[in-house]
Formats: sequence, C-alpha cells, structure tokens
Amino acid sequence: MRAVLWNGTRDVKTETVPDPGIEQPGDAVIRVTSSGLCGSDLHLYEVLGPFMTPGDVLGHEPLGVVEEVGPGVTSLVPGQRVVVPFQISCGHCPMCDTGLQTQCDNTRVDSQGTGASIYGYSALYGSVPGAQAEYLRVPRAEANAIPIPGQGPDDRYVFLSDVLPTAWQAVKYADVPRGGSVAVLGLGPIGEMACRVAAYLGAERVFGVDPVPERRARAAARGVEVFDSAAGDDVVDAIRDRTDGRGPDAVIDAVGMEAQGHTSARVAQRAAAMMPKGAAAKLMETAGVDRLSALRTAIELVRRGGTISLIGVYGGMADPLPMLTLFDKQIQLRMGQANVRHWAPDILPLLDDEDVLGVQDFATHHLSLEEAPEAYRRFQEKTDGIFKVVFTP
Ligand SMILES: NC(=O)c1ccc[n+]([C@@H]2O[C@H](COP(=O)([O-])OP(=O)(O)OC[C@H]3O[C@@H](n4cnc5c(N)ncnc54)[C@H](O)[C@@H]3O)[C@@H](O)[C@H]2O)c1
Ligand SMILES: [Zn+2]
Ligand SMILES: [Zn+2]
Repeated sequence: MRAVLWNGTRDVKTETVPDPGIEQPGDAVIRVTSSGLCGSDLHLYEVLGPFMTPGDVLGHEPLGVVEEVGPGVTSLVPGQRVVVPFQISCGHCPMCDTGLQTQCDNTRVDSQGTGASIYGYSALYGSVPGAQAEYLRVPRAEANAIPIPGQGPDDRYVFLSDVLPTAWQAVKYADVPRGGSVAVLGLGPIGEMACRVAAYLGAERVFGVDPVPERRARAAARGVEVFDSAAGDDVVDAIRDRTDGRGPDAVIDAVGMEAQGHTSARVAQRAAAMMPKGAAAKLMETAGVDRLSALRTAIELVRRGGTISLIGVYGGMADPLPMLTLFDKQIQLRMGQANVRHWAPDILPLLDDEDVLGVQDFATHHLSLEEAPEAYRRFQEKTDGIFKVVFTP
C-alpha cells in the first residue's frame, strides 16, 4: 500500500510499504478513505523527531471502511464505515470506564511512562503504524472503531477522530460559565473548532488570538473577536478592556510547545532535533525545550480564579513557570490528550444535516497521499491559506 512515512526532521515521503493484516483476534483492518493532517503531526515533523524512526507511518485521524476483522470481533462487519479515535484504548478498564481513555490501563506505553498508545505518534506513544495510508490495522477494534450512523460524506464524520473531541474537551475543561467569556490562543483547526464549540455550549464572548491573518479572518467570520498575538502585551490589555478589566473567565491554549515568540527555546528545539537520536531524546525529556509564550499569555490573561485549559501538546520538562502568578491568581489548570470515546456520544448527534459546528466545509484541502510532502511543508509554513488537510488515499 501507499503510506506517508517520516524520513527525518522536516522530511516526509510517500512510499509503498507492506499492507497491514490481522495480528490479534481483536483486530480489524480498515481501508482508509479520509485521513487528517494535524498540528500534532507538525511536532513530529520538527521537535519530536528524536522519538521517530525513518519509515514510521504517520497519521492518526482516519475514517474508512472495514475490510477484514479478526475472529474476536463480533460488533463490526466488513463493508461498515467507521471513524477511528486517534488513541487506542481497551474500553473496559477502570480508566476507560471513567472516561479517561487516554490513560487506559491496558494500552498505556509503560516503557516510556506515557498514556494510551496513539497511531503514528512516535516511540513515546508506542510506535503504532499510522493512518495516512491506504490501510490501517485497528487493534482492539470493538473499542476503537466508531460505526458511522448515516450516509453523509466523510468530512461530516472524519473530525470525530480528533479535532471535534479535542476541541470539545478543551472547552469542557475550560469550564466557561454560561454567558461567560473565553479566550482561545491559537486559531489552527483545534483552536478554531474550540471557538465554535465554546459558542455552541453557551459562551457569550469568544476571543481568538493567532499571528496568521487568514486564520484570524476565518474565526472572525464566525463571530470570534480576534487579535494578533504579535501585539504581545497589548493583546492582554485589549481583551481585559472587553472583560471589565478582569480578563476572560477561561483561556484555552490551543498552540502548544511550538508557540511563536520564544526564540531561545526555538533554538534549543532545533538543535535537539538535529542531534544524534538517543542524546536528543534525553535532552527533550529532561530539559525545558517547550516554547511557552502561549502558556505565559494564558496565565497573564485569565481572570483571577479562572481556568486555563491546555489542549496544545507540551513535551519538555524543566521550563521555568511563573508559579507566583499561578498561585496568587488562584488559577485552575486542566490538560491532556482528548478522551475521544468519552465525548463522542455528545458530539455524534450534532453531525447531521443541520451541521451546527460547520464540519462539512471545515477542511480547506483534500489531497492525495502523494501530495503529503508538500502538504506538510505548507501546513508548517501556514502559507497559501492551508488550514486543514484531509488526505483521500
Ligand atoms: N490534546 C489533544 O488531544 C490534541 C489533539 C490534537 C491536537 N493537539 C494539539 O493542539 C495544538 C493545535 O493543533 P492544530 O491542529 O490546530 O495545529 P496548528 O499548528 O495549525 O495550530 C497552532 C496555531 O497556533 C498559532 N500560534 C503560534 N504561536 C502562537 C502564539 N504565541 N499565540 C497565539 N497563537 C499562536 C499558529 O499560528 C497556529 O495557527 C497542537 O499543539 C496540537 O499538537 C492536541
Ligand atoms: Zn490530530
Ligand atoms: Zn482501558
């Protein structure tokens, strides 16, 4: 099959690799018909390179058709359309039962000290072959393939694999009071969807911050009050002015560890990505290489007693944090990978003809797997209005 492979820092290629097959009785193999490109893939493309091996298949946002099931799978049949959560969970351990599929007792990557394994997401998350490919092996398929109820187009459901539950969790964890205000830092696919979800769930004022003009324009078109992060402290002042001088009730950081505006950490990240693999991985795990400018803005911006919800991915260790401010402002912090299956039942009913969240025209580009090298490059550069790519193998 054709698949998108990690080949080095800022280097992916599309190649032919062996088709996956059934390995365990609980497996299914799906023929992938749509597969998203995510901001999380950009972390692998650059700073998380030390945890990748050339030839790793990328991608974790698939939708497809069941091709084959193992003898232990009774609830899925070949021909059925399914969307696949980005993390793999067992569906029946105490962690899964409480809705924390990302912490699943049976799929955690204990050798790395990390949570549930994730398709195409480096040694840190189990080195599981990813979904930007023609076929995908889905382990524990009954817990990890969500049957699609309707006949709608792929774009109606594909974002249930990651973008929708991630944005949903970001908003739920932000705990915005009804009629309250929230600022979303980062207006990429996750941040912009979080703005939509926040408004849908009752936030009165939604502020959005991003350095990319087209991204701000896209959010503004749906009623978000937008600001350019390049304005620095002025953004904090401007949003405070609009919230009675207090700051918003909640701030969502949908930027993560590669925030713009933090030069020294950017140099450290780039250096680490170029070092020999073992040494680089050690440095990433033990040093403060996250670029914290978005998180610092969040801490500064949120009102006293407010909540910060981190949904952007962080990966370093010893970054200095303004503990005095966090403590003094009595800030609540919540974070983590999204528990996809936990939120799916709330979201699925919204994926109908009414399309309140606007998923059907959310993607800006539908591309072949062969176009992946160019797509990764342009998505990282954020050029040509590229916003959300869905590969159609
Ligand atoms: N927690 C989860 O389960 C989960 C799931 C998916 C994605 N993510 C993470 O969410 C983040 C966003 O993903 P995405 O797909 O939207 O990616 P993206 O890279 O398109 O979005 C990041 C956005 O942040 C903007 N930005 C950069 N520096 C900024 C700053 N200082 N202030 C404000 N905005 C800034 C960028 O211009 C970009 O628009 C990534 O870190 C990704 O790894 C987390
Ligand atoms: Zn993703
Ligand atoms: Zn479990």
